[in-house]
Amino acid sequence: MDLKSTIREIQDFPKEGINFKDITTLLKDPLALKATIDAISENLKDKGIEIIAGPESRGFIVGVPVACQVGAGFVPVRKPGKLPAKVERYEYELEYGTDVLEIHHDAIKPGQKVAIVDDLLATGGTVLATARLIESLGGIVVSVQFLMELNFLNGREKLQGYEVQSLITYD
Ligand code: PRP
Ligand code: MG
Repeated sequence: MDLKSTIREIQDFPKEGINFKDITTLLKDPLALKATIDAISENLKDKGIEIIAGPESRGFIVGVPVACQVGAGFVPVRKPGKLPAKVERYEYELEYGTDVLEIHHDAIKPGQKVAIVDDLLATGGTVLATARLIESLGGIVVSVQFLMELNFLNGREKLQGYEVQSLITYD
């Protein structure tokens, strides 16, 4: 199935010069949604994945159905102040300023095999922070799966050393 044709492109959102990839049009298409979840789950087959970790918020949408399909649990990685129990936090650099992500300190057991699932690889900052949080708990990041990848931002370079797969790429 041609998934790319189901993703709507919005010019100049959220700011001028950005061509935003809107996955809501893919998500509301039953065949495209199922094809997306099936394809990511297929990429994770036979890798012994015990946990899918998804960064808030679009990583929740894609990550939970993949977790169900591969027989794994789901762990949310959240923006600060949202998780109620004790957390690990990771602060990372943006172009201007910093951002923070958090994970529950007991979300992953040492040695557990984890796959990260998110909708988009842009600069790679979100998923690198997610990987660092998983590793701080002793988890093993076996694979990183995206629906879309923006090649021109070179996020893949930031994720060197990890298996990285994307269903759709944009040049
Ligand atoms: C978007 C997208 C990815 C991230 C990719 O999330 O869903 O998680 O940006 O960018 P990066 O590779 O440069 O880190 P966003 O932070 O906009 O939040 P959302 O998922 O809540 O919409
Ligand atoms: Mg996101």
